[in-house]
Amino acid sequence: MYRSHNLNELSKEHDGGEVTLAGWVHRRRDHGGMIFIDLRDRYGLTQIVSDPVNFKKAHDVLETVRSEFVIQIKGKVRLRPSGQENPHLKSGAIEVLVNDVVILNKAMTPPFEIDQEKEISEEMRLTYRYLDLRRERMKNNILLRHRVVKFIRDFFEKNDFVEVETPILIKGTPEGSREYLVPSRLYTGNFYVLPQSPQQLKQLLMIAGFDRYFQIARCFRDEDQRGDRQPEFTQLDLEMSFVDEEDVRKINEELMIDLLKKFRPDKKLKFSPFPVMSYKDAMEKYGSDKPDLRFDLLIVDVSEVAKNCGFGVFADAVMNGGVVKALRVPGGAKFTRKDVDELAEIAKIYKAKGLVYVAIESEGFKSSIVKFFRTDELEKIQKITGAEIGDGILFTADRFQVACESLGQVRLKIGKKLNLIDESVYACLWVNEFPMFEKDTETGMLSAMHHPFTAPRDVEVFVNDPLSAISKGYDLVLDGNEIGGGSIRIHDSEVQSKVFEALKIAPEDAERRFGHMLRAFKYGAPPHGGIAWGIDRLIMLFANEPNIREVIAFPKDQKAKDLMLSAPSEMPEDQIAELHIKVITKD
Ligand code: AMO
Ligand code: AMP
Repeated sequence: MYRSHNLNELSKEHDGGEVTLAGWVHRRRDHGGMIFIDLRDRYGLTQIVSDPVNFKKAHDVLETVRSEFVIQIKGKVRLRPSGQENPHLKSGAIEVLVNDVVILNKAMTPPFEIDQEKEISEEMRLTYRYLDLRRERMKNNILLRHRVVKFIRDFFEKNDFVEVETPILIKGTPEGSREYLVPSRLYTGNFYVLPQSPQQLKQLLMIAGFDRYFQIARCFRDEDQRGDRQPEFTQLDLEMSFVDEEDVRKINEELMIDLLKKFRPDKKLKFSPFPVMSYKDAMEKYGSDKPDLRFDLLIVDVSEVAKNCGFGVFADAVMNGGVVKALRVPGGAKFTRKDVDELAEIAKIYKAKGLVYVAIESEGFKSSIVKFFRTDELEKIQKITGAEIGDGILFTADRFQVACESLGQVRLKIGKKLNLIDESVYACLWVNEFPMFEKDTETGMLSAMHHPFTAPRDVEVFVNDPLSAISKGYDLVLDGNEIGGGSIRIHDSEVQSKVFEALKIAPEDAERRFGHMLRAFKYGAPPHGGIAWGIDRLIMLFANEPNIREVIAFPKDQKAKDLMLSAPSEMPEDQIAELHIKVITKD
């Protein structure tokens, strides 16, 4: 037996007991000839202490141990002297007087300190991830993740869902990202594809009659990395038969509320039930399809006033089919040139051509563009924005999408800068009524806004004018983060073929790539729909972490590398040849 107790178990009741403990040397202090060690395991810390007089042999061994050594000790529990208790530790009332020690393993000096929260380079952390995971914060994140996933499994079990594992080696799933390919050894020149999500398989499970499916599913996307993206990540994936949008929303909303209650009881829900906002409304008012509703600042349209004004930039934009959008900045009359420039830089990242600023001071409007406006025009604009004396107004003129999106990003920045975000609440909402398709401004090609299996709201509208068709898709948004996305699916082979047609996928091509779906729809496909949540993102928010790498045990770095394993890596030539593959080096 290596240990009689873990390191978070002993307390006053164990006073006088003989125990055997094992763990890592967390911290070591020498005091008046005695050695004090905080021994650590996953569960916690327990203080052990040497006695150089009565147990000299054990004391001598403890003299040689260093941070992160793995040791086993035998000893007797005793109360700490009064005043020496540590109220922050469960075992803080006691210590263990050591009478025997075994060094189970030595440790080199770690490349960073385990026992302190210090800034460590991410490269170092990921290279030595097994040490990084020993740190309290990371350990807690991984344990939280375990509990959240367990909670989710229990929730679906309660609701009659069946967890089914879908394959990892599959044929492509077109969901907009580049796919990872796996060469086949048996079939020269053929490839498996790693799933971007279990989308098609979960639909096939509905056709198979499973009715309610879920899975904690690994997904793979060969995308450029960002803070909230990983090349492999985890979804809570689910699908239901005989449901409409509201049914799917209802059960997911219930889960979200339960999760928030359980894992973030410190925060309140701002809205319950969650508001349902159309994509158009979200873009128009918040400049985002994932609006952060923790603060209220709204974008407004002032095209009507601006179209006749003397400021060419505005008038021309409206004349060319664009819009002029405005945003009130509470207390913004105080903004300096530098404040405004900083916001303009953000707008430019999102393709805005510029950002105009007007301050409303008690003496009147102040801005370089005031001269192009009549006072009544400015007053009208002030009224539309709801701005008051002491506020500022920001404007951008552009295509609808660009004007909204850039001002939406400015809105977020202002929210942070002016502390408008209520950190004591969680703001969830549903965004729906997405367009079926987006048009590439350069190629004119359509692409599915969600994925090509999403049903149109109105089949006739879709058939007549695909670009104006609205889908039965929906996103679940939490504090400005897209947590989940899903839709009611097409379950009719003909409609599905028409979507492929709209996407300019030739019938032969559609048959080759999606023949299995088109065929399956002809064997009694029930109406069905579902959603997938980004589990990593959710846990990141629960854990208050700035990026999803902090809640994944072994993540890739921002260049898609596993620094600990050194992956990806070169492979022996014969192994590559076996796959009928030849590597062409870049130069
Ligand atoms: P979608 O592509 O919107 O939908 O993905 C669902 C959710 O998965 C999360 N997510 C990611 N998380 C981390 N890293 C990534 N690279 C990444 N990409 C996506 C997001 C997102 O909301 N099959 C559909 C779902 C459906 O229609 O049922 C799908 O995958 O939180
Ligand atoms: P310019 O005429 O290019 O010198 O621009 C005059 C002011 O208008 C500058 O403050 C620009 O940032 C701003 N501006 C230019 N284009 C736009 C636009 N499309 N929307 C809002 N402001 C703009």
